Amino acid sequence: MTLTSPRKLDHIRITIDSNVSHDGASTLFEDVTLVYKALPEVSLNGVDASIEFLGKKLSAPIMVTGMTGGHAVAAKINCAIAKAVEELGLAMGVGSQRAALENPSLSYTFSVARKCAPSAVIIANIGAPQLVKGYGIEEIRKAVEMIGADAVAIHLNAAQEAFQPEGDTDYAGVIERIRDVASAIEKPVIVKETGHGIGLEAARLLRAAGVRIIDVAGAGGTSWIRVEQYRARAKGNEMLATAASTFSSTGIPTAQAVVEARWAAPDACIIASGGVRSGLDVAKAIALGADIAGVALPVINAYARGGEEAIRALLERLVTELRIAMFLSGSGSLAELRGADIVLGHRLLSIMKARGVEPELYLNGPRVL
Ligand code: FNR
Repeated sequence: MTLTSPRKLDHIRITIDSNVSHDGASTLFEDVTLVYKALPEVSLNGVDASIEFLGKKLSAPIMVTGMTGGHAVAAKINCAIAKAVEELGLAMGVGSQRAALENPSLSYTFSVARKCAPSAVIIANIGAPQLVKGYGIEEIRKAVEMIGADAVAIHLNAAQEAFQPEGDTDYAGVIERIRDVASAIEKPVIVKETGHGIGLEAARLLRAAGVRIIDVAGAGGTSWIRVEQYRARAKGNEMLATAASTFSSTGIPTAQAVVEARWAAPDACIIASGGVRSGLDVAKAIALGADIAGVALPVINAYARGGEEAIRALLERLVTELRIAMFLSGSGSLAELRGADIVLGHRLLSIMKARGVEPELYLNGPRVL
């Protein structure tokens, strides 16, 4: 095993066995109300939640965001997720492929996703710090080819790395490296956070660097600061564990991140993730300006509970809830859901104003896909 693999296995164990949700931040989806329509003027059976993403048709705007790979257990998890998304017409990402780039004998733990989902949208994954440490277009191409990917996600995880004694904390020059990749690679580039959120400033920089797809992965779901806190405590590093609790509310809540990313990058494809736990959350995110929603932690928990079948049941529930939310808001299509009536709570409204997003303009302005 490479150095990366045992740590990744640690992460999976911790996320399954412990409470790793943000304890100091929420998604702020509770501040978004989809207005109920007693006369929806659509039929539930006629609701069309399908969308085109990366040149393929998804039955609903839902993806499982990248989590794992690099060891035998991860291969099983990737195949289970892949089978479920293939059957349901959804999309998935694999976890960081660094382990397999360092040790090609681990490639199968990622490529199994394509084997188990021959036609689904599958997304490759590499960490941004690796771009600074010397990964270039060649490594990104290898990662894409390894899994027959439809796109590559570059993940940002500064908040996590800061709480790892062995963390890759050099983010100087990352945006230039992302620009290099986005201009050279043949596949679309997604830049994603990992649970602490992409806000206005980062979204603006990314769009200017040529990135067209942004997964905001905001705060309110999995907290990597919290995951690292468990690891620090298990290793007897109380100082780092206490420092982690100081930052328990750090991050941009997902609903805020969606608004900010959409405001900063009106023509980008915005993926809403981080604490998306129901199809109603998905619907709220889309009404707020996202194109697609992503979910991670509940999928790994479902796998631990009941393998592929439990993953399928979870994803089916999300799709069903989304369709009901569309029906009850009078939205026959995702385009209609994007324009559905919503009411925002004081907290989100005041954050929008403080961040220079004008609510009237935002809610009534053009939302370009
Ligand atoms: C992740 N996530 C992640 N992201 C990434 O880009 N590369 C990776 O290797 C991983 N690894 C990983 C492992 C596990 C066990 C989890 C739960 C998550 C982050 C993930 O894609 C997502 O952005 C966050 O978890 C926030 O979404 P949820 O979990 O709140 O739905």
